[in-house]
Amino acid sequence: MKLAIFDLDGVLVDTAKYHYLAWKRLANEYGFDFTEADNERLKGVSRMRSLEILLEIGGLNVDEATQEAMAAQKNAWYVEYISRLDESELLPGAADYVRHLRSRGVMTAIGSASKNTAMILERLGIAGLFDVVIDGTRTRKAKPDPEVFALAAQSLGIDPQDCVVFEDAVAGIQAAHRGGMGVVGIGKPDKLGEADAIVPGLAQLMALSAAQV
Ligand code: BG6
Ligand code: MG
Repeated sequence: MKLAIFDLDGVLVDTAKYHYLAWKRLANEYGFDFTEADNERLKGVSRMRSLEILLEIGGLNVDEATQEAMAAQKNAWYVEYISRLDESELLPGAADYVRHLRSRGVMTAIGSASKNTAMILERLGIAGLFDVVIDGTRTRKAKPDPEVFALAAQSLGIDPQDCVVFEDAVAGIQAAHRGGMGVVGIGKPDKLGEADAIVPGLAQLMALSAAQV
């Protein structure tokens, strides 16, 4: 592995709960409920596609201008919630594992759908840990399209077969494979069966790597 590409939400930081709160608030404003189980369907999914799923759950049909306004409202609430993020919300082992790889000469990148990536990295104090950050502001095609990971590899001149992606969402695992990269699933095996390896979190990978030294 020459380049390790990390998804952000659900791999390095648990932002899913804030996405959930903001989507739920939006659903409630429009008169329907949105459960945590519903929220599972939005992991790794782009903002506008997430809205489509939400509207489907609520049985609502709205015009494009309303969709734009709804997505903007959700994002305003989400940004308000994450503006209070700090280092304590990094997932266990996340920063340690990225630092560990870098100390062994592996390059590191972010490959995330989120247009709020820069702000989140800044709030977590880990912006300096990555050689390149590719996020939703720089891509045109959402995962499972491999664009986000391919751009990270290309920008550093690394071949896809020398990259490993760390992902918690099925769409991200598929994107990595379509891009010809290896992928470590972060989470539960029942959902991430397509990954080449699965670990509960980066803390476990850190422990394994430390034990080999
Ligand atoms: C992904 C999240 O990382 O980013 C999704 O898993 C989210 O839940 C997507 O919808 C887009 O994020 P944002 O911050 O641009 O709305
Ligand atoms: Mg994710």
